[in-house]
Amino acid sequence: MNNPAKATGFVSFVSSGPGDPELLTMRAVKRLQAAEVVLYDALAAGPILDLASDGAQLISVGKRARRPSAKQESVNALLVEHARAGRRVVRLKSGDSGIFGRLEEEITALVHDDIAFEIVPGVPSALAAAAAAGIPLTRRQTARRMQFITGADVTGGLPDHLNFDAIADPDATTVVFMGQKNFAELSARLVAHGMSPQTPALLAEAVGHPEQRMVRSTIADLAAMLVAEGPSTHPALIFYGPLAASPDQLRRLPLPG
Ligand SMILES: C[S@@+](CC[C@H](N)C(=O)[O-])C[C@H]1O[C@@H](n2cnc3c(N)ncnc32)[C@H](O)[C@@H]1O
Repeated sequence: MNNPAKATGFVSFVSSGPGDPELLTMRAVKRLQAAEVVLYDALAAGPILDLASDGAQLISVGKRARRPSAKQESVNALLVEHARAGRRVVRLKSGDSGIFGRLEEEITALVHDDIAFEIVPGVPSALAAAAAAGIPLTRRQTARRMQFITGADVTGGLPDHLNFDAIADPDATTVVFMGQKNFAELSARLVAHGMSPQTPALLAEAVGHPEQRMVRSTIADLAAMLVAEGPSTHPALIFYGPLAASPDQLRRLPLPG
């Protein structure tokens, strides 16, 4: 192990939720108010940063697709440097920091330096999106399983080794993170694997932000729409599977007996 005398500061991995400050946990707010340094991702910026104390040093280490980003090693090095200097550090990550957030890399860097840390959980964007769309993610008998997948790997392409038996399961709700760019390819491969092109799909863009947009469609039509629109600057999630009807659609159905 490393020299314990180096271990002075403390790092809180704070999950920011989808971006709406009202969806922060009370613990997240307390940690932001007490922080001396806040290292934040682009998706965790915005009004949430206003909760940090006036004297806090705010450092953007934002990672966004198709834009210049801080390298993971420099983020790790900054965390270690500020913690070693004895500071209360908040590492602010979007949604829940444990989901597609490179949390393990950063924890590993701290563990190697004997720096103490905690993880403050938050509302994952997928759960905030389902709530904003007014739909449950599971449904008795028809959607008994849910799964989160990433639609892009480090190269920006569709990840290799996707488990198509699992992700083309018509009885599961699947949520694709970082999936807009490759959704046409993903959708075609799902259909080739036996999934109906008419499988319901939902695009949830900029959830919890003023630009929020929800588009209900099917996997085939959504794929065509995303190709026609081209890349968006907003973060988005794609849901597909036996998605529950929206409140509007429910109004048109008879009340269950
Ligand atoms: C690096 S991952 C981080 C996920 C995050 N840890 C979470 O729990 O939501 C970034 C991706 O999460 C999704 N995402 C994050 N915030 C979002 C939001 N407010 N609206 C829609 N999608 C969001 C998008 O797919 C985005 O490309």
